Amino acid sequence: MNQAVLHKLLASKQGDKDVKSFFELRLATNLTLIKEAFFKIYPDAHTAFRDLLQLLEALFSKRPGYLKTQDIERINTEAWYRSEQLVGMQLYVDHFSKDLKGLRNKISYLEQLGINFLHLMPITTRPKGENDGGYAVNSHTEIDPKYGTRKDLDALTALMRSKNMYLMLDFVVNHTSDEHKWALKAKAGEKKYQNYYYTYADRTIPEEFEKTLPEVFPKTAPGNYTYVPEMNKWVMTAFNNYQWDLNYTNPEVFLEMLTNLVELSNLGVDVVRFDALAFLWKKMGTISQNLEEAHIIVFLYRMCLQVVAPSTILLAEAIVAPRDIVKYFGEDIRTGNECEIAYNASLMALLWNSIATKKTALLYKSLINESKKPRECTWINYIRCHDDIGLGLDDQHIQELGWNPQGHRKFLLDYYCQRIGWSPAKGLLFMYNPKTGDGRITGSAASLLGLEKALETNDQELLEQSQNKILMLHSIVLSFGGIPLIYAGDEIGTLNDYTFLEDEVKKTDNRWVNRPQQDWKLIKTLGEKDSVHSRIFNRIKRLITLRKANPVFADNENTRLHQTGNEHILIYERTAESGTGILVLCNFDEHPQVVDSSWMAKLDYLRDQKFHDLIEDTVSELRSGFLELSPYQFLWLKKWH
Ligand code: GLC
Repeated sequence: MNQAVLHKLLASKQGDKDVKSFFELRLATNLTLIKEAFFKIYPDAHTAFRDLLQLLEALFSKRPGYLKTQDIERINTEAWYRSEQLVGMQLYVDHFSKDLKGLRNKISYLEQLGINFLHLMPITTRPKGENDGGYAVNSHTEIDPKYGTRKDLDALTALMRSKNMYLMLDFVVNHTSDEHKWALKAKAGEKKYQNYYYTYADRTIPEEFEKTLPEVFPKTAPGNYTYVPEMNKWVMTAFNNYQWDLNYTNPEVFLEMLTNLVELSNLGVDVVRFDALAFLWKKMGTISQNLEEAHIIVFLYRMCLQVVAPSTILLAEAIVAPRDIVKYFGEDIRTGNECEIAYNASLMALLWNSIATKKTALLYKSLINESKKPRECTWINYIRCHDDIGLGLDDQHIQELGWNPQGHRKFLLDYYCQRIGWSPAKGLLFMYNPKTGDGRITGSAASLLGLEKALETNDQELLEQSQNKILMLHSIVLSFGGIPLIYAGDEIGTLNDYTFLEDEVKKTDNRWVNRPQQDWKLIKTLGEKDSVHSRIFNRIKRLITLRKANPVFADNENTRLHQTGNEHILIYERTAESGTGILVLCNFDEHPQVVDSSWMAKLDYLRDQKFHDLIEDTVSELRSGFLELSPYQFLWLKKWH
């Protein structure tokens, strides 16, 4: 937006009138793009398009005033989400603080750690029994009483805003639960709502689709269609049989979902997490993921948000092949035109690969070959989340390293899922599909990195190593470029939680092993006792403080990889135009490793054989031309400058 227009709007005393003209300006800017995209997927839907234009105006008029002001302010400021100041945490409200009210009382804990961006797992209404951790939604915006009320959420967002904390909530864009009001009406026989989903009188079409559709949950929800006796029809259910896929070939669905999206954004949400967005369009004869039309829908959502609620941005939850993830930023090389943020699922999988293999070759290969993202978009970098770890690695890259992709994946599953005696990991195998040999991994970061085994066996060396691994992986997501998202509990080294096995509703979904209750009793002891948990907490806290104190950690496309020839080491440099820089070095091996350091002097990280480590804040001297890193050690070296 033009600076002068913005200035005029902000300075104006005419209030509403100018805010309205802001809307009109944004509509004028985006209208052609919206129209083109809309008619690409809905070529004959002229009435629906007129409805869309009216809807945009209606949605804008309902946007709360303070958010309209925020829209105007944020639209022309430096993208806040690329800042080094941002550090996120993902949490289940019920497991963390019981409910939304309780969460207000825990904000000080988050502040103490340095967290200022929260992803709250689904808090909207869902079926009583199985509900996929809330991802089977009965409503996209109504708060489930279990978490509190709309008022409680408002109080929380107000508190967060006063502390400059940002909020991310989920938008389950691909499906609803089978108890959503649309599904209930469909079951009652209303054709209109049956057309909101993919419903079929018999299995002819489903069977054609099944020939190429993969299965997301092959063990617990095989197939992609579910018979619904109430309507005597089959409905598409790519995830669980109680999650009905929305039929985006119907423009009414897009309009209704856009309304939901804006209502969600109006709750004061800064980032909307687009859940499972790769699945938005289905086409017979394909795997029905990442289709061009799915991208057009995401683009349309973004363009419409830019008109109505431009300060809300989108996160792509696309857990797909590395080369497909980056496409969810959209094609514009500067700003992107789909989601502003995407999960860096590739980096996550590669880090787990490097831990298991103790080598960084695949990590380098993938990073070097990674497609470029738009400059103003950014990643969410993370180690663990509520889901399983999928082995989203590029087969070609694995092959180029001389490994067999299938054999390599099997090794990773064996390593993490307790099928190799020497492995310290205590993960569980998730959704193993004997037909394809594919499987995924569950388990908390600490248990996957050996802490559980170390404590069980009282193995001091393993204890030390697992603690170092936990910290090293966190140091990477905190320094790599993008928003670091810490999974609640990982900041204190929380182990697997096996209580899900006693719960009838949860026991078949072992992702619950990595969805623990926050251990406040343990947290109370952090300040008093020297324990592995307090060491992890204090170290992560220190890394967060350092991240925030060093603007080179903002994502300005300023990460440069360095290869040294040592296959266990990862090195990258973060630089700023001012000439400052930080060199990050990590040793993925269980043995000490050395790095030839001659090049470090040229880059000014070594002067008179001395280097400055930011984390310890010490200056040390090299005795030979080699820099030695102990097992799983990491360094953040400061450029002498
Ligand atoms: C996303 C969520 C996952 C859920 C799925 C279906 O991938 O992260 O937990 O099972 O969507 O909604």
